[in-house]
Amino acid sequence: MSEYANLLFEVEQGIGVVSINRPKALNALNGATIHELDDLFTKLATDSSVKVVILTGSGEKSFVAGADITEMQNMSAMEGRNWGKVAQAVFNKIENLPQPVIAAVNGYALGGGCELAMACDIRIASEQAKFGQPEVSLGIPPGFGGTQRLPRLVGKGRAKELLFCGDMIDAAEAYRIGLVNQVVGAEELMNAAKAMAGKIITRAPLAVKVCKAAVNEGLDIDLESGMAYEAEVFGLCFATEDQKVGMRAFVEKRKPNFCEK
Ligand code: HXC
Repeated sequence: MSEYANLLFEVEQGIGVVSINRPKALNALNGATIHELDDLFTKLATDSSVKVVILTGSGEKSFVAGADITEMQNMSAMEGRNWGKVAQAVFNKIENLPQPVIAAVNGYALGGGCELAMACDIRIASEQAKFGQPEVSLGIPPGFGGTQRLPRLVGKGRAKELLFCGDMIDAAEAYRIGLVNQVVGAEELMNAAKAMAGKIITRAPLAVKVCKAAVNEGLDIDLESGMAYEAEVFGLCFATEDQKVGMRAFVEKRKPNFCEK
């Protein structure tokens, strides 16, 4: 039994699978779901038994069809601002989780759903997934990071087209513009996400965490500062057992067995 009303969570062989579970509303994000995501990802950050997280949507049809429109329709300006800020903070928490997070996009990823997928490190989509930022048809811009993360992922021009027109794109187009890393058949989606998670788990955990932090830090600062950050963390990793284990295994022509968490 999940301790959450709107999320399912299970851990198998170091992989934590989080499913947004409001299939009747196509997994739309209401306040309660955002609150539960906040709680779960706060716990995951210090859970050393979970090495990689996969985030997906329950049901056949939808990853997340956006923020819950019924809940937003009567919001005041102040409430809208607060709602955006609260959800932004939760998405930032997901983006900065020490462990890698893979979005397994099984269907609609619209509005806040597309923004949630973009807060993950890697996106794997099923062939039937659809992406879009349709907010301008509702009289609002994206408010969960879409105006910021989308151009960083696909470039300014493509992002503006998606933001201004509000059209949906299919998985093949999302792959073509760099919004997703991989497209697979619907039946294969979780296997593909688990295969990637499993591969990451065999690599040195601290080195993977450092890669994630360096990419996230570096994209928001100038190149020189990013290089300085990289040099620091690169150096620090030489003080880890995993660096000895990894390099010794290479020299001895065998697979490494990493130990650091
Ligand atoms: C609340 C939603 C919902 C949403 C779907 N539902 N999306 N409820 N909020 N975002 C509900 C429907 O009301 C319906 O409930 C049920 O889910 C099934 O949806 P249908 O529309 O009947 O399904 P279908 O015809 O297949 O169309 C699928 C769809 C469409 C194309 C995904 O549901 C749709 O356009 N949804 C809204 C997408 C959207 O605009 N997202 C952006 C939201 S704004 P009932 O009770 O009738 O069965 C946003 C802003 C983020 O995300 C930033 C805020 C600060």
